[in-house]
Amino acid sequence: MITIMDQIQRDCDHSSVRSARRIESAIACAERAQQLVHRILNFARATPPARTSFRIEDLLEGMGEILVSSLPRSVFLQFDLQNDLPTICADRSQLEAVLLNLVINARDAMPDGGKITITAAEQIFLPGTEDDADPKRMVHLSVNDTGCGMNEVTLRRAVEPFFSTKEIGKGTGLGLSMASAVTRQLGGHFSMASQIDIGTTIDLWLPAPDG
Ligand SMILES: Nc1ncnc2c1ncn2[C@@H]1O[C@H](COP(=O)(O)OP(=O)(O)O)[C@@H](O)[C@H]1O
Ligand SMILES: [Mg+2]
Repeated sequence: MITIMDQIQRDCDHSSVRSARRIESAIACAERAQQLVHRILNFARATPPARTSFRIEDLLEGMGEILVSSLPRSVFLQFDLQNDLPTICADRSQLEAVLLNLVINARDAMPDGGKITITAAEQIFLPGTEDDADPKRMVHLSVNDTGCGMNEVTLRRAVEPFFSTKEIGKGTGLGLSMASAVTRQLGGHFSMASQIDIGTTIDLWLPAPDG
């Protein structure tokens, strides 16, 4: 489609300015659609995730530079990580993408600056039923911000794929749906809490099977 429009653009070199502009914006739209399709395909890629065992501290340490460079000076990033966290078993780059998305969401919610706190602590879930006899060890990872918060409708719809309140080109609506899908695929839990003008907390509980 893009190639055909490029050809039309070349053929139309001598026609009206208005048609030239229309073709230009059609090409821009097609390019955006192409990018979106790439993102969707990556999101739903058929290859199984490559899981390894690692510690959240190490993952966050490795992400330090990218996290800091995605934030303006007006946003303060702090960590509250428990010592000796158990290792989790996950696709490291998938989890990095999830965390980066959560931090960028927090940044976008604080145009006038604020604070992002990333917390990680071990939590043991006692068995709820007889079928589920063993206690489950989890790492509770949360990203909190002091941003604009979400109203009820946004909060309810936020995990829907492609739901976004951001202007075109700024949001894809895939960040939270990916975060919740990745967490569930790992056998964990995902939850969100938000209050207008107070902030938002996104919680992930990730299984730590090997302790
Ligand atoms: N930390 C946050 N504070 C306020 N609103 C948020 C936050 N995170 C997500 N949202 C809301 O949820 C929507 C969906 O988020 P997401 O799936 O990451 O898509 P995107 O960031 O591309 O819009 C956002 O458009 C925004 O309205
Ligand atoms: Mg996002």
